[in-house]
Amino acid sequence: MTTTASPIRSEPIDDHTAMIVASDLLLDVRSRDPFSGLWEPGDVQWWYATEPKLAAVSRSLWRDRDGKPIAVTLEAVFADEPGQPPRVDVDVLGDLEPGGAAREHVLPVVLGQLADPAFHPGSIVAMNVDGGDADLAGRLMRLGLAEAPHDRLDAMGQRADAVATVPALPVGYRFADGTEPAAGAHHLAGRNGPDVHARLLRCPLHRREFDLRIVAPDGTAAAYCLLWRDGATGVGHFEPVRTEDAHQRRGLGRALMAEGIRRLAAQGATLIKVDTYANNPAAVALYTRAGFQRWNVKRSFHRPPVVV
Ligand SMILES: CC(C)(COP(=O)(O)OP(=O)(O)OC[C@H]1O[C@@H](n2cnc3c(N)ncnc32)[C@H](O)[C@@H]1OP(=O)(O)O)[C@@H](O)C(=O)NCCC(=O)NCCS
Repeated sequence: MTTTASPIRSEPIDDHTAMIVASDLLLDVRSRDPFSGLWEPGDVQWWYATEPKLAAVSRSLWRDRDGKPIAVTLEAVFADEPGQPPRVDVDVLGDLEPGGAAREHVLPVVLGQLADPAFHPGSIVAMNVDGGDADLAGRLMRLGLAEAPHDRLDAMGQRADAVATVPALPVGYRFADGTEPAAGAHHLAGRNGPDVHARLLRCPLHRREFDLRIVAPDGTAAAYCLLWRDGATGVGHFEPVRTEDAHQRRGLGRALMAEGIRRLAAQGATLIKVDTYANNPAAVALYTRAGFQRWNVKRSFHRPPVVV
């Protein structure tokens, strides 16, 4: 689509270019304020790695009148909830701060699309909003979107400490990382699709030593996380984090977080972040016990399917 009312234009782009450009735009925003904005570059790289799981994704690159990229927009269609309508998550990745190019030029166009009943009429349409952004929340509510409290994310953070103690693992468990590949399929493949590892290797912030897991006595991955660190801002980030059901409540999650923080700090991270659904008490408790504090929330606003 090309807009005529504003000095910008947009074009469809492929998944890899979208991930690279969006990461650069977010890094640029972060280099001015490590707390600003909604998503981390690691988030968009993780989305890229797991994208084949989704029903569909469309992406656009937005440029200013000089041809400089100012935003990437994503429409990601999830159709994995049995009995539920599909859900389309709409994201504007760029400078959404007041006066930022994405906010001034791209957001109004996207909000115009959300207001159109012909925009994904059979789907729930969802947009995440920074907890401090009352202006955008108000604009979405005036368009008929309502806040979905069950979808709220807690954004948590803590200062990094490279010398933090890592708790001992239960007998027979040990740490491993991507420098020691598993014999069979990558441990993320089961939940995240067979391509996940190959796609991770194409992400600029991916490091084999940040592909961290705890191996159970039977050789399977009992717990795992991915770590992301951007050198520009010193932000380290966990996404995803999981202990498999059979191994929970043995301290693996706590050990994984401590070892992850230690690795990120050793590579220069000074601020560590993790997001969790606010209604996930296990994750909130784990992260709180691991020293994280909530510094913001990410509110989710939904438009129900349009009845025609
Ligand atoms: C959240 C999760 C990673 C915790 O892993 P874990 O290995 O069981 O965690 P630990 O045994 O190290 O527990 C550490 C602390 O977290 C808290 N905690 C862990 N599981 C909990 C639960 N089910 N309910 C309440 N608190 C819990 C407790 O404070 C616990 O300390 P304690 O056992 O001394 O009371 C695990 O439940 C999980 O993978 N869940 C599904 C995926 C998920 O939600 N990931 C996080 C998404 S952001």
